[in-house]
Amino acid sequence: MSSQPKTETAPRKLILPQPISAAADRECRGERALLAQLGPDTIVMQGDNPALAKMPEKPTLLDFFRLRFGMITYNHLLQSATLARKAGQNEKTILACLLHDIANGVLIRTDHGYWGAQLIAPYVDEEVSWAVQHHQALRFYPDPAVNYEYPEPYVRFFGADYVVPEYLQMAYETARGHRWYGTSRAITLYDLYAFDDSVAIDCGEFEDLIGRHFKQPKEGLGFDNSPVAHMWRTMIWPTNFL
Ligand SMILES: [Fe+2]
Ligand SMILES: [Fe+2]
Repeated sequence: MSSQPKTETAPRKLILPQPISAAADRECRGERALLAQLGPDTIVMQGDNPALAKMPEKPTLLDFFRLRFGMITYNHLLQSATLARKAGQNEKTILACLLHDIANGVLIRTDHGYWGAQLIAPYVDEEVSWAVQHHQALRFYPDPAVNYEYPEPYVRFFGADYVVPEYLQMAYETARGHRWYGTSRAITLYDLYAFDDSVAIDCGEFEDLIGRHFKQPKEGLGFDNSPVAHMWRTMIWPTNFL
């Protein structure tokens, strides 16, 4: 009697939305419905998600740009940094522009200036992370001295009667008199509030500048035991169950 070779089929892997994306579902109906599907052929997503590009073992900053960041953020950051470079800004300021919305790449958009500042803090000059954090407040406030006006698209985004929350009002007051105000203000100046997808810039154009001003850990971002390594790992495996 001949036995047929058993064909192994890979289990189906469920991706549960991050809790922050399902905050309105406090009864967790969506999560419960997904978990009810678990069985011999169905497990949860953990580790490399085949729908995403595989990251190298020791990922660099540019690996995240190339393999993880959504194209809106990718183009936006590169266009901002290019504008700053063309305007003759110093390299620290160009780097701040290149990294200012890094949290939006694939991590989180809420309070993105704060998350972004934390992500980069161990690897950049303190002035750069400070500037990234405070651009979140400064972008709401005009500065006639440098011809910065309230961004017109924000009226469309937030409505005409939007009131800046108090914690950002306070952050603005703090930033205004700070010695690094100009660096953070520069981010808002070269920030493109209208997103232009037609301009394609390769992130490799900033490789030298990153090499000079971003202290890449030799173990790779996510694996250097820094206080923020888990945040980079979350971007490597954004669909992990736990
Ligand atoms: Fe921003
Ligand atoms: Fe931006």
